[in-house]
Amino acid sequence: MTGKNIIIFASGAGSNTQNIINFFRNDPSVNISLIVSNKPEAGVLKIAEEEGIQSLIIEKEAFFRGNAYVEILKHYSPDLIVLAGFLWKIPSKLIESFPDKIINIHPALLPKYGGKGMYGHFVHEAVKSAGEKETGITIHFVDELYDHGAYIFQAKVAIEDQDSADSIAKKVHQLEYKYFPEVIRQILSKKY
Ligand code: GRF
Repeated sequence: MTGKNIIIFASGAGSNTQNIINFFRNDPSVNISLIVSNKPEAGVLKIAEEEGIQSLIIEKEAFFRGNAYVEILKHYSPDLIVLAGFLWKIPSKLIESFPDKIINIHPALLPKYGGKGMYGHFVHEAVKSAGEKETGITIHFVDELYDHGAYIFQAKVAIEDQDSADSIAKKVHQLEYKYFPEVIRQILSKKY
């Protein structure tokens, strides 16, 4: 695999981002070239600073108005744009500019428990209150709708009666850390 560039979009703590950075740290063929966030105070930006990775804070109006950031992103020539907990919908201009190059990880087994407002704790609360016996992760291509593009990978974990939304979240995070970087590697080497 020759030099591949990844751009990561994240709105939150960035534990998946840190995990991806760690996974590819000793792989000279993969470079995290930019970390994008919509939240100036997001933990993921501190990770970017600590790791010496360039970051970009985006503004809502500019992001949704049109292709304000497309040229900047093209400058980093991404082979893959990875949404790792990014809470805004991706505007069609961006999707059109990077066809089949934007992926997302959702902390549930889509198509259930997806869509607007279904993120983080809300997902695990809904799974718990529905009495589901299992949950998991879905890694998928991004299209104009929330959590809707073609699925790439899913992994499951059992839910025990005594599990709370918190303990479910922990189980799901373990799946994310285990599989997300590997799936990214497979996509970059076109083996998925
Ligand atoms: C993860 O649970 C991921 O599935 C979802 O957003 C969360 C991001 O968490 N899309 P973190 O910021 O990587 O810790």
